[in-house]
Amino acid sequence: MFITVHLPDGTSHRLEALEGWRVMEVIRDWGLPIKGECGGACACATCHVRVKQEWLDKLVPAEDEELEMLDGAFNVEDRSRLSCQLIMTPELDGLEVELAEDSLAELPPQPVAVGG
Ligand code: FES
Repeated sequence: MFITVHLPDGTSHRLEALEGWRVMEVIRDWGLPIKGECGGACACATCHVRVKQEWLDKLVPAEDEELEMLDGAFNVEDRSRLSCQLIMTPELDGLEVELAEDSLAELPPQPVAVGG
């Protein structure tokens, strides 16, 4: 199974995913810069994604806990979800999400050249 993740910088990434994985974990484990600060406990909203319209009907509806966390996030839309609450199933093969700007992690510091 694969998902496609669109980053705020305009790049798109097709990532392999396994059944039972959380979408947040797929994004993080492939090394894309997602904050996901609470590690998937539905307690931070820094894994906010906007799901492509055509996939919304295939998702399990958000529970109250998720909706409450999303209330505190920025630039939330009707198609906003917390990616740690989206569990991969075969029906979601091909899922497309956009990572929200506020969920983008800082890139790691670049190594500094020494000497010369
Ligand atoms: S990782 Fe914290 S709410 Fe999803």
